[in-house]
Amino acid sequence: MALSFDFSNMMAGTLPHGTGVTEAQWLGAAERFAAAHAAVHARAGDLGFLTLATNDALLESSLAVAAKVKGKFDDVLLLGIGGSALGPIALRTALCPPRWNELTPEQRGGHPRLHVLDNVDPATIGATLARLDLSRTLVLVVSKSGGTVETMAQYLIVREALAQAVGEQPAKQHLVLVTDPKVGALRRIANEEGIPAVDIPANVGGRFSVLSPVGILPAALIGIDVRALLAGAAHVTAQAQDADLARNLPGAFAVLQWLADREHGRPIQVLMPYADALRDLALWFVQLWAESLGKITPQGTSVGPTPLPALGATDQHSQVQLFMEGPQDKTVTFIAVKGREHEGRIPPRHGDIPELGYLGGHSLGELIDIEQRATAGALAARGRFNATLAIDTVDAWHLGALMQLFALATAYAGELYGVNAFDQPGVELGKQFAYAMLGRTGSEQARAEWDALPKPDPRWAL
Ligand code: PA5
Repeated sequence: MALSFDFSNMMAGTLPHGTGVTEAQWLGAAERFAAAHAAVHARAGDLGFLTLATNDALLESSLAVAAKVKGKFDDVLLLGIGGSALGPIALRTALCPPRWNELTPEQRGGHPRLHVLDNVDPATIGATLARLDLSRTLVLVVSKSGGTVETMAQYLIVREALAQAVGEQPAKQHLVLVTDPKVGALRRIANEEGIPAVDIPANVGGRFSVLSPVGILPAALIGIDVRALLAGAAHVTAQAQDADLARNLPGAFAVLQWLADREHGRPIQVLMPYADALRDLALWFVQLWAESLGKITPQGTSVGPTPLPALGATDQHSQVQLFMEGPQDKTVTFIAVKGREHEGRIPPRHGDIPELGYLGGHSLGELIDIEQRATAGALAARGRFNATLAIDTVDAWHLGALMQLFALATAYAGELYGVNAFDQPGVELGKQFAYAMLGRTGSEQARAEWDALPKPDPRWAL
């Protein structure tokens, strides 16, 4: 079980034409990193994500629910958005066999399907409810704040549908609320109605919560090895106690992206796994990196890299042209999967046709791996910054390790950029305007600001 990080292709010397992070910049950043590291780890009491992987009581709270409902449900429907949905989706995609929800109960080992409603598009919600047998469905309502508008709307609709399907009282046995231990509307509903609830620790925020019951409960329900997931994360957390940049993998990732942005004009930062199973991990990373780092500093400067998801080899036929020849404003971090070279043998047919003949005898695993290395090499040859994170295999241990790596890197990057990685004040105004238009009490000031906005100018509309 191992995770490695090769960043030669970010560095001057490897990259041509004098481009790349210089050794002096790297060594200079080591001191800055030591301060960032100290600041993050000094806040271990506040930053609950640092200890999620070793919080046995919290793990047990999810396992107890999973044990209690075992065999009773064919489907789990998770309601949530942002950090309350992207982690569970990434876990399902990475760690369940492909097309999980299409498999038979036997193929799923008796575990339920998992559906995640991470939006309020009526078409999707309607179609999902139309397909589900609610009498055999467990609904997880996941919201740290316990009041997010989209999740509350999903909840109201699904609760009504449940009540109609199974009756008002029995519906409560189909609900588990995953929320803050004390505050918020969901907690109030749990307390007042005696609906089962599981705590998200108060010091764990949405996008850092995948290893809390937000991700662990749905993962346990669908049979993912959650202990291995947490063990991978614990391994990375333990290694990250080292303040030496040369030995701190999350630190190295954060420092390189920060240097690439601030010193080399590369604020667009692509995460490109070469495995379909990791496609949604890239989307999870995008939220983590964007919502944590896109901020105004206390000095009033807007900062933050722009993360971009990609998938190899698929995006070699889409975005890679841009990465190779477009503006020199990007870094690409590949995730390579070792140990699958011989999977999917390609049969030797059409040996006399040059476009096909050379493929026979190779394997799909070999092809995708070679394509990743070829793309990395091609980018480097043209002076394009890139690095490769390599994992032995896509399993729970390595996924936990990767997720904790990115969470730690985000916390360090927050310090390097001089911003609070754990809040999201920029989403507030839009929320307030929406509340105002929906007539929520207390949003009168937002209504006044909304009404005072310039009206659409007919000259600038078609
Ligand atoms: O990372 C965050 O804090 C946000 O993206 C939240 O996850 C998102 O807004 C949903 O919030 P909540 O879990 O409170 O419903």
